[in-house]
Amino acid sequence: MKKILVAHDGSKPSEKAMRRAFEIEGKFGSSVTIVSVIPDFYLADIMETDRARIVRTLTDDAKKMLERIKSRHQGAHPLKTVLKKGNPAEVVIEEARKMKASLIITGSHGRHGAQKFLLGSVSSKIVDHADCSVLVVK
Ligand SMILES: Nc1ncnc2c1ncn2[C@@H]1O[C@H](COP(=O)(O)OP(=O)(O)OP(=O)(O)O)[C@@H](O)[C@H]1O
Ligand SMILES: [Mg+2]
Repeated sequence: MKKILVAHDGSKPSEKAMRRAFEIEGKFGSSVTIVSVIPDFYLADIMETDRARIVRTLTDDAKKMLERIKSRHQGAHPLKTVLKKGNPAEVVIEEARKMKASLIITGSHGRHGAQKFLLGSVSSKIVDHADCSVLVVK
């Protein structure tokens, strides 16, 4: 468990995933990277200026969230944060590949999903397609 990648969308389950990563880091001396992805979105009839404004707001929010994580945890847990744009599952998988992570940790659900479904679409796609082990925290 040398390198762990945590997928964080600002949700409670992903916060739980991060805490689990810190536990493993404490036991195995792993390094923890937190990645958050601004999702691409396609809406018909939306003006480019509106789209740009939405992306800017999402980016600002994600930046603030990662800054908050760093200021809260970086003292006790050496961690890196990464902010990307694109398809969340694909970007997380690619990031894990690039950094040669041995474990990806995600929450079972995120910010949008209905809890009645077994797994969110992002975590389920990561489980299906990642090259390394995946831990889904409930
Ligand atoms: N944009 C994202 N960036 C980083 N990690 C993400 C992102 N979206 C989801 N995840 C990861 O996947 C986990 C599950 O979220 P997911 O999006 O699959 O479920 P959901 O939001 O409940 O449902 P859905 O998005 O399918 O409607 C989150 O706890 C987080 O670990
Ligand atoms: Mg989601």
